[in-house]
Formats: sequence, C-alpha cells, structure tokens
Amino acid sequence: MIVAVPKDRPGERRVALSPDGAKTLVRQEIDVRVQSGAGLEAGFSDAAYEEAGAKIETDVAALLAEAAVVLRVGAPTAAERAQLTRGTVWISLLRPLDEPQEVKALAETGATAFSLEMVPRITRAQSMDVLSSQATVAGYRAVLLAAERLPKMFPMLVTAAGTISPARVFVIGAGVAGLQAIATAKRLGAVVEAYDTRAAAAEQVESLGAKFVVVELDTGDAEDAGGYAREQTEEFYAAQRKLMAEKAASSDVVITTALVPGRPAPQLIDEAGVQGMSPGSVIVDLAAPNGGNCAGTRPGETVDIGGVQVIGPLNLAGELPTNASQMFSKNAVTFLQNLLTDGELTINLEDEIVAGSLVAKDGAVVHPVVLEKLEGAR
Ligand code: NAI
Repeated sequence: MIVAVPKDRPGERRVALSPDGAKTLVRQEIDVRVQSGAGLEAGFSDAAYEEAGAKIETDVAALLAEAAVVLRVGAPTAAERAQLTRGTVWISLLRPLDEPQEVKALAETGATAFSLEMVPRITRAQSMDVLSSQATVAGYRAVLLAAERLPKMFPMLVTAAGTISPARVFVIGAGVAGLQAIATAKRLGAVVEAYDTRAAAAEQVESLGAKFVVVELDTGDAEDAGGYAREQTEEFYAAQRKLMAEKAASSDVVITTALVPGRPAPQLIDEAGVQGMSPGSVIVDLAAPNGGNCAGTRPGETVDIGGVQVIGPLNLAGELPTNASQMFSKNAVTFLQNLLTDGELTINLEDEIVAGSLVAKDGAVVHPVVLEKLEGAR
C-alpha cells in the first residue's frame, strides 16, 4: 500500500508526516512516499525521510496518481484534485463546516475523504485529535506573540530601579488553546484571568493557577453532547460583551479563542471594548479564521485601533511547524492505523471514529452535517 505525502500549499509550513511517523508506517510494511522538500520548512530534510525508509518523489502528479492514501495538513488545491484517482483515500484538515463546497469538489473526484476536524472527541480518539494538538501549539504561540508586541514585560520584578508590576492577561474561551495560553502566560509571570461559558472550564482554569472570572450571565445548558459550547442568543452575547469590556479595560493582553463549531465566531469584544483598553495593549484573536471574537479583527492582519493592536492570526500552529508537524503526524498515523485491518484499508462504518470523520465516498458527500451545510448554502 502506498501512502503519499505531498507538500502542503504555499504558506503552510507544516507537513502531515514526520520522519518518525514515516518510520512507524514503514515498519508496518507500508510504502511511504514523500514529495521532495515537503518537510523542509518543518525542519525535516529529504535525507531524514529516506533514513526512515521513505522514498522521495519529485513528480507530484505521479505521487498522487499512485497513492492509495494521501496524508496532508490542508485540503487539496484544484490542480491536486485533478490528479487524484478514484478511490484514493485523502486524509487531512478540510474545514468541512466552513468550506463545504471544497469537500463537494473533492467528493466529485471519487476520492474517499476523511476530515480530521470531524474525528469525535472521544477517549479512544485522543491520540488522533488534530484540533487539540494544533490548538495547543496555537495557544502557546498566541502568548509569545502578545508578549513580543506588548510594550511591557510579563513578570513582576522587584529591582533597585523600582518595582515592575506584572502584565495582566485575560483569556476568553478556555478550551484547548485557551488553557495552553493560560499556562504559557502564567509561566511568563503574568497575572491571568479567564472566562468560558462552559462551567467545566472553571476548575481547569483554576488548576493552572489563573482566576476564573465569574459573571452574572445565565449560560443555560452551555455544553452539547460532544463537550463543545452551544451557541447563545444575541441578547446573551450583548450582555457578555459589556462584561468582557469591563475586564478587558483592566487587562494589558486579551486572548480570545471562543468558538462554536459550525458557526461564525461569536463577537465578544465590541468597538467600545477595544477602545476601553489602554494604548499599547494587545488583543490576539485566535478565532480570526472564523471571523474573529473582536469587532476590529481583520483575519490575517494586525490593526491598530487607538493604540491597541488587534492581531488576527490565521495559522498560529503553522508558525511553530516542527512541533506542530510532529504532533499532527502522530495524530494522522494513529488515525490511519485505525483504518487498517491486517494491513489492509477497511472503511468500517461501525467504528464511530471512521463514520464521524468520513466526509466523501464514491463521488458524493456522505457526512450528514456537511450535507446540511451544503443545503443551507443553496
Ligand atoms: P473550541 O475551539 O470549539 O472553542 C474554544 C472555547 O471557546 C471552548 O472552551 C468554548 O466553550 C469557548 N466558548 C464558546 N463560546 C464562548 C463564549 N461566548 N464565551 C466564552 N467562551 C466561549 O473548543 P476546543 O478547545 O476544541 O474544546 C472543546 C471541548 O472539547 C472542551 O470541552 C474540551 O475540554 C473538550 N475536549 C475533549 C477531548 C476529549 O475528550 N478527547 C479532547 C479535546 C477537547
């Protein structure tokens, strides 16, 4: 069986398979083929893949045409889709709820496509959870970005030249990225507070030594069966914006990570909230790829609003491509191994991990939630 790893799109520095991941697959007698240069930006040379037992391929058309399975970080380009053969198994992030049309185009090639975002968050799938591994890297990176831009230091210092008070960091959304941001900001010595609509987040925030902000908001049943946040009403968000603005005004850094799966990111910091912060303050909006949690966010850009820098990064995990790729690779390899029975690919729809992440098969989109999105877009 040939597993192919083509280079990702320009600008994406991560690679779906590390040399270590390649070694694991080769040990299982899988023929691993990596496009020349695919791992370079993540720090993995062609020689490292060869040493792991993989073959280096320079002709991407041949690589894709011969592959039984393609492992990738991001979705295929139109040119790559045209090179896929019917029945090829494509495994990558696909943003199926945000870009269902892309999934449809991939389905039309006849490929069997798995979206790693759709892997259910169950215990057995923890080592396949790309959302968590990449959010961990992004949460860490967000704090470093803020620390670099803030005209202040993070830790409290008592020196002969006076006492420097610690930076105040407020994290909105304490999921995987938010918790990693809290831990990183704490390590740098900041005073950290956080808020999430899910009650379960309070204990996790406090276990990291940060303060959970208690606000007078009725979140109702804030969590769905999968552990994700439910969408709240517009009245709720309006009330939340007021309370978040009060907290933001006394913070040097605000890191927003609040997402509701399949919905645009809720706006939690409005213009007044940004304007209420002191000049020099920094907002890092991790929800930027989904429109942002902050009124001023421009995805992919940094804007200066009255001296407050609002940063809207689109791919923070990709800014630390070595570790992000190592983790992605571990997730992707485990996911692929789960598809193998006695070394043969089997699409066992009785397995909730397989059924939950399969988005296209036999020329059609097969995932009900993606189909619903496509219907809605009509
Ligand atoms: P996410 O990226 O979808 O959202 C980030 C955070 O934003 C979540 O904590 C969410 O509750 C919060 N949020 C949404 N609306 C908000 C609002 N209006 N105000 C403040 N916060 C808001 O979530 P992520 O990080 O992917 O994790 C989602 C859940 O899945 C968490 O409960 C996490 O603990 C759980 N999980 C479970 C795993 C497992 O059991 N295998 C693995 C990873 C996560």
